[in-house]
Amino acid sequence: MGVIGGRPNPVVAAPMAGGASTPRLAAAVSNAGGLGFVAAGYLTVAQLDDRIAEVRTLTSEPFAVNLFVPGAPGDVADVARYAERLAPVAERYGVTLGEPRHDDDDWAAKLDVVRARAVPAVSFTFGCPDAEIVASLHEVGTEVCVTVTSAGEARIAAAAGADVLCVQGMEAGAHRATFLNDPASPTGGELIGLLPLLRQVAGAVDLPLMATGGLMTGADIAAVLAAGAVAAQLGTAFLCCPESGAPAAHQRALLERSYPTTAVTRAFSGRPARGLANQFLLDHGPHAPAAYPEVHHLTRPLRAAGDPEAMSLWAGQGFAAIRPMPAADLVATLTAELAAALNAATARWAP
Ligand SMILES: Cc1cc2nc3c(=O)[nH]c(=O)nc-3n(C[C@H](O)[C@H](O)[C@H](O)COP(=O)(O)O)c2cc1C
Repeated sequence: MGVIGGRPNPVVAAPMAGGASTPRLAAAVSNAGGLGFVAAGYLTVAQLDDRIAEVRTLTSEPFAVNLFVPGAPGDVADVARYAERLAPVAERYGVTLGEPRHDDDDWAAKLDVVRARAVPAVSFTFGCPDAEIVASLHEVGTEVCVTVTSAGEARIAAAAGADVLCVQGMEAGAHRATFLNDPASPTGGELIGLLPLLRQVAGAVDLPLMATGGLMTGADIAAVLAAGAVAAQLGTAFLCCPESGAPAAHQRALLERSYPTTAVTRAFSGRPARGLANQFLLDHGPHAPAAYPEVHHLTRPLRAAGDPEAMSLWAGQGFAAIRPMPAADLVATLTAELAAALNAATARWAP
């Protein structure tokens, strides 16, 4: 039994870069019998190392680390045009736009850290590591998970030697995991709902699948387990736990239902991501280029200005069901609901 599919509770707290994933949140979920994540994205190499060490002081249970796979730079002229468009917005907030530089999020050095720390499991998003990298993680006893959004990506991940796939439905909050940031596709490939995607991926590869996207309740988890998943990864559901490091304005917007809908946009980062449909998303989303992380760096000062209308308020489609409670209580509640939902479904269906 692997790390991801072998926990007492099939509840995984998703990696959430940008603040929400804290060592306390990861440890609380792992200590409650689920699986917690350290999100390496945007951290410095030293911060990543520190966070892994901190999780180990808070739990002796398994946990996982998530890494961003680097991609190709975007078109420089497109980025310059987007910067021109955003100039009046920056002026309004009294900030200077960020330097739209391309980087690889310290890919090689972060891989060195997770290998040196021999973490129990590593998941990848935005691409697939090559077979040599997967083998090097296996050598130190690390389980390898690749996040996929299509059957085609699942085949590539299986060929590279992944042990588990994280199947991300279109309902998911924040960035879509699509391997390519294709300028021709504003939504990051076909938007496939989680249940049909699980079926497509299961038909393409013979690997354990972790389901993610829009899951908020134990009944939701029951649905994906019935569809063949070994675990459920929930992001938005954990954003308003006291252990979450999500900004207060983000948590307030979720709890107060300040925005009725979510949408997929490149407005904030240059990669398709789902967030609450605030003014910035509506105004600029259709004009944002496929340039990640250039646009992420460009918009950082705007997002940090403190106005929720200009923040990336990442949220999955299930956000209205969010429950602010300690992470351990949420894992216990989800597990109890899961058992009740499975029993009720069995009782309703009388063969
Ligand atoms: C605030 C936020 C940040 C996220 N950051 C990451 C990340 O760093 N790496 C990653 O693989 N997924 C990230 N995700 C996506 C989750 O892994 C997961 O696919 C998603 O949360 C599932 O949808 P849900 O939010 O409806 O549960 C993030 C999600 C949210 C809400």
